[in-house]
Amino acid sequence: MKVLNKKSIEDIDVKGKRVLVRCDFNVPMKDGRVSSDERIVASLPTIEYLLSKGGRLILCSHMGRPAGTGFEAAFSLAPVAAYLSELLGKEVKMAKDIVGESAKSLAAGLEDGDIMLLENVRFDSRETKNAPELSKEMAALAEVYVNDAFGTAHRAHSSTTGVAKFLPAVCGYLIQKEIKFIGGALEDPKRPFVAILGGAKVSDKIGVINNLLDKVDTLIVGGGMAYTFFVAKGCTVGTSICEPDKIDLAKEMLAKAEAKGVNFLLPVDNKVGLEYAADTQTQIVDSAKIPDGWMGLDIGPQTQEIFAKAVEGSGTVIWNGPMGVCEWDAFASGTVAVAKAVAASGAVSVIGGGDSVAAVQKLGFADKMSHISTGGGASLEFMEGKELPGIAALDEK
Ligand code: 3PG
Repeated sequence: MKVLNKKSIEDIDVKGKRVLVRCDFNVPMKDGRVSSDERIVASLPTIEYLLSKGGRLILCSHMGRPAGTGFEAAFSLAPVAAYLSELLGKEVKMAKDIVGESAKSLAAGLEDGDIMLLENVRFDSRETKNAPELSKEMAALAEVYVNDAFGTAHRAHSSTTGVAKFLPAVCGYLIQKEIKFIGGALEDPKRPFVAILGGAKVSDKIGVINNLLDKVDTLIVGGGMAYTFFVAKGCTVGTSICEPDKIDLAKEMLAKAEAKGVNFLLPVDNKVGLEYAADTQTQIVDSAKIPDGWMGLDIGPQTQEIFAKAVEGSGTVIWNGPMGVCEWDAFASGTVAVAKAVAASGAVSVIGGGDSVAAVQKLGFADKMSHISTGGGASLEFMEGKELPGIAALDEK
């Protein structure tokens, strides 16, 4: 497994110190309450460790994409503070601002083992500009900086990279775990190494495909992005989603797979619909011959078997993106079949991407997977082989 060459929370003494901890609490909300708590739960090992060592914790995060013109109730982190208080069984004090009077006085009043949360860092427009003034003001609240926001590690913002210049800066357990599993799979996979990519667009994943083709034994492509590959192979795809400006890149990827000897699997059959609707008329057709007027909305039963067979007996599986429009029951079975195959494989399995993670959770397979990533864009950029600025900024061992 990949070991991160960055200092971690275990390399510093936090007793009696104010510790600024960057988390990714950008969580789904419904009616003013946290509706999905994975990212909050994933932050607990770091928070609990730092509290147990007598740190005085000042948590910070962004939530959504507010205008950056000050407080907006819809993007307040107050519901996260309440949720975290329940999980920890102790009060998480909520600041009314980020670096203003409320944050300063709460931070100054912290005792060992106390915890507070700053307001949404994106209420200040300087955050996303990585303005040094904001980084300095944040750093002035604390004596040590911990970044555990893997989901935001691909953003070079004041609270994710800028602040690391002004304080001793180390990573938390979540960042360590994500790098261990995703980095480990990429750099030292148990073979055969199978990657399964889905989702609507080739453009979102082209960099990932390119990088994975240097590493995997089998690359499975399903979901909406497969149709651009079919057009690249000279097939007709009816009204299926296709990105004409990515056809040449798709051709390049097919040629690269062949040159590298990678087993590149595309669907052989598809469930197609007449319209993009949950209750549209459907049929199963040969993927290479989707009739005019029909659109591919899921992989077909034969493809499900072929994909499952490819996953069976693998040593490492990375899966990101659904095989069809899985939020509609009529087009969920391809994604479900892949989730079942990965869960049954016994392979080191790393799952990323909202829909694939949701499918795994809905089916109750989460504990059968080795790692479910909390990063969307961050895990994709990492799989593309890009450096993540939020990690690069931390102190080396
Ligand atoms: C995410 O949900 O992917 C992260 O929290 C980053 O959010 P952003 O795309 O708004 O920067």
